[in-house]
Amino acid sequence: MGLAAFAQVSGTQLVSSFTMHSDADRMASDLFANSEGLSQEDLGSGARLLRGFVASEETAILSTLREIETRAPFRHMVTPGGFRMSVAMTNCGPLGWVTDRKGYRYDALDPVSGSPWPAMPPVFSALASKAASAAGFPKFEPDACLMNRYEPGAKVSLHQDKDEPDFGQPIVSVSLGVPAVFLFGGLKRSDKAKRMQLFHGDVVVWGGPARLRYHGVLALKAAQHPLTGAHRINLTFRKAS
Ligand code: SIN
Ligand code: FE2
Repeated sequence: MGLAAFAQVSGTQLVSSFTMHSDADRMASDLFANSEGLSQEDLGSGARLLRGFVASEETAILSTLREIETRAPFRHMVTPGGFRMSVAMTNCGPLGWVTDRKGYRYDALDPVSGSPWPAMPPVFSALASKAASAAGFPKFEPDACLMNRYEPGAKVSLHQDKDEPDFGQPIVSVSLGVPAVFLFGGLKRSDKAKRMQLFHGDVVVWGGPARLRYHGVLALKAAQHPLTGAHRINLTFRKAS
């Protein structure tokens, strides 16, 4: 994430224009169903929204997440500028994304425990590779999975994912639990962002010409999901080496 990633945005203003833009976005997007009857939305060259792509694996994913959490608990990291992030984070895999007063980076060790992050579970890497393939990136093998936990009010301001060395590798982003409004912008911060709701089981993949598109998540609205309670969980898979 860039240094300006957590600058405050006007959530109220963005929410109020949501309905207006989402209809237009939906009409403009290329909407079709795959062989399992799940819809996919083309979000522009290199970017695709796979509706419900991991829903059938919800139990395995969430029980694996609970296990990871016992060894590497969610925590609120601090930005280089000294702000506590509203989203709680943890990681699994050989590399984990961290931020503190020294900067944003990937680290093989969890700074809380001093130990390596929990290994990437095969169920996670398999679903990330499968989603990447479905979106046109057949050789994706992630070595980092950042887990974001949103409580009501938590958000992530517009930013680019750019701490990885190889922008030839896509980003695979899995949504679970309470729905959220995802902002998907262009290559410039000032480009108008599409707004779309992401529901439990949805996956967004962006790579190639879309790899550095700005994105973010509006403040989570209070709601309950049968499997995650008041939370939204996002898993972001990356190749970070
Ligand atoms: C992020 O880009 O850091 C989070 C995306 C999401 O939670 O959907
Ligand atoms: Fe991101």
